[in-house]
Amino acid sequence: MEYRVDDRSLTPEGFLAFVDQVWPGEYDVEKTRSALARTLNITARDSGQLVGCLRILTDGCFFGTITELLVLPAYQRRGIGSRLLQLAGEHTPTRLYFGAQPGAEGFYEKNGCRRSLPSYMIEPQEDGAP
Ligand SMILES: CC(C)(COP(=O)(O)OP(=O)(O)OC[C@H]1O[C@@H](n2cnc3c(N)ncnc32)[C@H](O)[C@@H]1OP(=O)(O)O)[C@@H](O)C(=O)NCCC(=O)NCCS
Repeated sequence: MEYRVDDRSLTPEGFLAFVDQVWPGEYDVEKTRSALARTLNITARDSGQLVGCLRILTDGCFFGTITELLVLPAYQRRGIGSRLLQLAGEHTPTRLYFGAQPGAEGFYEKNGCRRSLPSYMIEPQEDGAP
């Protein structure tokens, strides 16, 4: 398994083909390109194939978050998610605050993540959207 921190070879098309295997959905290629350009993308590749990805969004000073952590179903439970989390800890300039999907709490706690603030969300308003 090869791990790449700041994987500049990650394309929106390759990323979406990967995401679709974990969280199927309708995704926009150009919006995804812009999103990938804003995050530190840490990947796990098997013979070049993208099998795991963790993205960090941080302001470099006060706050950072993990936008998502995904591992292909066929590659889960082999330590890949744990390694990606470890690399995130080694390379983030800020603390990372993030939510856990229901059921994934055990994974984060097994990896030494501390429980933090409960999370809330605000939906963007139509007229405020870019
Ligand atoms: C959650 C996820 C990232 C974990 O990645 P992974 O590579 O399978 O995790 P690891 O192999 O490093 O797991 C380490 C340990 O965490 C625990 N663990 C792993 N996945 C878990 C889960 N979904 N729920 C609870 N505990 C979990 C296990 O105890 C595992 O050790 P074990 O295999 O010896 O039992 C992966 O299952 C995934 O992509 N799931 C779908 C998307 C998702 O829910 N992402 C998280 C968003 S918050």
